Amino acid sequence: MTVGKDTETGSSKKNRMSALAIVINYFFHLILFGITSYILSRVIIDLNVTLFTLHIIFIVPGYLILMSNAILIMSDNNFLSMTSKQSERVISHWMLQVFGLILIIVGHSCVFVYKYQGNLPRFQTVHSRVGLATFILSLITGFQGIFTRYSYQLRKFVKPLIQKIFHSLVGNFTYILAVVSIIYGFDQMWSRDYDVIVKPILITLLSISTAYVLYKSLFTMALRIKQLFE
Ligand code: HEM
Repeated sequence: MTVGKDTETGSSKKNRMSALAIVINYFFHLILFGITSYILSRVIIDLNVTLFTLHIIFIVPGYLILMSNAILIMSDNNFLSMTSKQSERVISHWMLQVFGLILIIVGHSCVFVYKYQGNLPRFQTVHSRVGLATFILSLITGFQGIFTRYSYQLRKFVKPLIQKIFHSLVGNFTYILAVVSIIYGFDQMWSRDYDVIVKPILITLLSISTAYVLYKSLFTMALRIKQLFE
């Protein structure tokens, strides 16, 4: 069984997802929502809402909800957009990117100000260094997305295919780094008895959901690289 028409072409082309693909997709949305809710509620219960915890409260949903959906939409793997045309999916993608980026910028500003005000050591841990790299790459991906959006108009300067490959390369890598930052974050912060069970569960769920969010996008990128050499 397939859902959604696929008779259209070009910018009006719609997405096809089998019933099984929709169930799996729904399941991963629940996992991502569950992980995000757990991290946020745990941080708020343990430490309350402070300038420091705001970095987690803003950044984690920014990546796990908004950026995940932005990637899933563009790789035609999101039940929320399966009835949308290609042009509508592009708009949803960049809107999610923009809102995600706003949360990420605000979250980083909170932790930077917190550290600055407290005169605390900066970028001493693996988490903070990977986090900084994630932040910088997120800004680069967002900015470069503008060139990818207008890649056809800019084709005299750079091949659209190269723009798209570069965008997915940096975007996917940034998403992986974001997940690594999250894992290092709670790994260095949580040390209660039950964390011996909680941390491996979260790491496993995050690894599986990351593989799911990225696999189609990586596959399309590989096809494009192959196309480049044909
Ligand atoms: C993608 C998600 C995240 C990113 C990009 C990120 C980024 C950062 C950055 C850049 C710093 C250092 C700021 C500075 O030194 O000026 C920092 C500090 C910190 N973050 Fe995160 N963070 C994320 C999620 C989390 C999570 C989920 C937790 C814990 C549940 C966490 C816990 C901490 C702690 C304990 C510090 C202070 C110690 C240190 O500098 O490493 N972070 N974060």
